[in-house]
Amino acid sequence: MASLYPLLTLYPSLIISCLFLTSLVSCSECKKKAVIFNFGDSNSDTGGLCAGLGYTFGYPNSRTYFHEASGRLCDGRLIIDYLCEALNTSMLTPYLESLAPDFSNGANFAIGGSSTLPKYVPFSLDVQILEYLRFKSRSSKLYSKGLKNLVGGEEEFKNALYMIDIGQNDLAGAFSYLEEPEVINKIPSFISEIRDALWEIYKQGGRHLWVHNTGPLGCLPQKLATRSNASGSDIDGVGCLKSMNEAAMVFNGQLKALCDELRIGMQNATIVYVDIFTIKYDLIANSTKYGFKNPLMACCGFGGPPYNYKQSFSCGQAGYNVCEEGSRYVSWDGVHYTDAANSFVASKILSTNHSAPPIPFDFFCKS
Ligand SMILES: *[C@@H]1O[C@H](CO)[C@@H](O)[C@H](O)[C@H]1NC(C)=O
Ligand SMILES: *[C@@H]1O[C@H](CO)[C@@H](O)[C@H](O)[C@H]1NC(C)=O
Ligand SMILES: *[C@@H]1O[C@H](CO)[C@@H](O)[C@H](O)[C@H]1NC(C)=O
Ligand SMILES: *[C@@H]1O[C@H](CO)[C@@H](O)[C@H](O)[C@H]1NC(C)=O
Ligand SMILES: *[C@@H]1O[C@H](CO)[C@@H](O)[C@H](O)[C@H]1NC(C)=O
Repeated sequence: MASLYPLLTLYPSLIISCLFLTSLVSCSECKKKAVIFNFGDSNSDTGGLCAGLGYTFGYPNSRTYFHEASGRLCDGRLIIDYLCEALNTSMLTPYLESLAPDFSNGANFAIGGSSTLPKYVPFSLDVQILEYLRFKSRSSKLYSKGLKNLVGGEEEFKNALYMIDIGQNDLAGAFSYLEEPEVINKIPSFISEIRDALWEIYKQGGRHLWVHNTGPLGCLPQKLATRSNASGSDIDGVGCLKSMNEAAMVFNGQLKALCDELRIGMQNATIVYVDIFTIKYDLIANSTKYGFKNPLMACCGFGGPPYNYKQSFSCGQAGYNVCEEGSRYVSWDGVHYTDAANSFVASKILSTNHSAPPIPFDFFCKS
């Protein structure tokens, strides 16, 4: 199976087809409409920040797929886009999209830069949950009046999948002014926000929860290039920052424990915890095996090896450079993964090998 990955990364367009996925994982045939609601940060923002604040993430973003500004910080698709493709459902429309939005298969509340804390600011996790509550009550009213392109009725909200991928910015923000032990002390407060969010979704009738843990923060070229210690004793065998990855692992341990706790408390709910950290760290550590190279260097950035990252000349800003073969890079812009890396991560997610419990992604729409 592993030998398929170089193929996937060399020909990422192949993975678009659900049929091709059949050879990797069983391709899904949803029995009912697949409705998805997603909460998170730029790792799963399909255009919300741009819709909300009037930004454009211009070329070279989206150069591999979409071929026009798509509101994503990537050369193509995000993990969530690949997961939607695997279900043969449209990519999620950002909740803040005001021009001809199509919410018939759900909505994406994720916004680049979001964190769990501080609360009550655009677009912290609790604000994303408030937006979801508004979406639910408004769309139920409008749908009953005959409006289309909305999620229709209580049953569809109940059957929907609720995905969450947040925490990276909480950790990164804390590391900007604290040392590792103090960052670790703050983690329970981040987890507490995620607990509140998941309970609110449950109270609203959501029964299918899909939780992504946080990736190896210390392997991001941006972090490696900007931490003054990058060449010191804080570097692990793969070349990543130990302190940041340790904190990410502590966060993930507590997130996994939260999922175990909620499985006991939330009657009739299915809660799947997906170990994104292990998938991404394997991709970086074994990049050659999977057909990637330079896993710690941004494809799009400034300065050349080892990291090709400089804050003031980041991807798309005057002076940046961009690699030729994005499909061989793990990191797109020093923070976000490439279309090819995201396709790799998505196929690992679809394998259920890193899920607890190992339930297929299409479980919520199958029966
Ligand atoms: C995907 O959906 C389209 C339109 O709903 C349908 O025509 C097509 O057969 C589906 N393909 C698969 C592989 O399920
Ligand atoms: C650098 O690393 C040392 C030892 O790991 C640590 O004590 C120190 O706080 C670090 N400094 C910065 C700026 O990260
Ligand atoms: C759990 O499912 C059973 C059977 O469908 C139902 O009777 C019960 O009300 C559900 N409980 C909750 C809390 O959803
Ligand atoms: C790299 O691949 C080997 C062989 O599959 C595996 O045992 C190892 O755990 C991988 N490394 C990481 C860091 O995941
Ligand atoms: C999932 O695990 C099985 C059994 O270890 C392995 O054969 C398969 O290659 C794995 N799939 C992926 C996509 O990693």
